[in-house]
Amino acid sequence: MKILGIACSPRKNGNTEILMNQVMLAAEREGCETEVFRVSEKNVAPCDACGLCFEAGSCVVQDDMQELYGMLEHADGIIFGTPVYFGSVSAQGKAIMDRMFALLQRRALKDKVAGALVVTRRVGAIQTRSLIYSFCIAQGMIVAGGAIGYGREIGDVLTGVGGGIDMSAMEESRVLGVSVARLVKKLR
Ligand SMILES: Cc1cc2nc3c(=O)[nH]c(=O)nc-3n(C[C@H](O)[C@H](O)[C@H](O)COP(=O)(O)O)c2cc1C
Repeated sequence: MKILGIACSPRKNGNTEILMNQVMLAAEREGCETEVFRVSEKNVAPCDACGLCFEAGSCVVQDDMQELYGMLEHADGIIFGTPVYFGSVSAQGKAIMDRMFALLQRRALKDKVAGALVVTRRVGAIQTRSLIYSFCIAQGMIVAGGAIGYGREIGDVLTGVGGGIDMSAMEESRVLGVSVARLVKKLR
């Protein structure tokens, strides 16, 4: 069972990556293999709407998204993590979502388990989580749940609150990792 995390903050070792590590640790403790694609180390261009994926079922743009396509195909569970940027996913996260249009043509992500991880200083978490959920459902994925972490400076989420009542950001992320891993196991 493979769980893939996609950390869509350009800030290396930032809050999204910190909480994504926590999600992955929890999934590993449930017996899953994990890997993380960090946009802070990658280069993914936006979709240029060339339309070639309609026929080919794959994207012709040659950048780090090609590596992610392979990771996505092999994953049983996928956690999409992003900071909130002006009430939405980061530009890097949106580029990845749009480039995943190439997978929609052949329903390559159908019935894979999905999770959403959202980090914000103060506002926009719920709407951003909803955007990720909608995207995952459009791809035919089964959404296991989400986690929210509040923090601004790098490391704030280590002591920050989560979105749920009496939940820390770290605890909510751990629960997300468990939920995704257990749903993957149940569906197998
Ligand atoms: C361009 C930009 C836009 C942001 N927009 C919001 C916002 O709409 N609401 C908010 O509460 N925080 C906003 N933030 C703050 C980040 O969500 C917050 O600092 C978060 O912890 C960053 O996560 P990271 O360390 O993984 O990059 C914004 C930050 C940046 C750089």
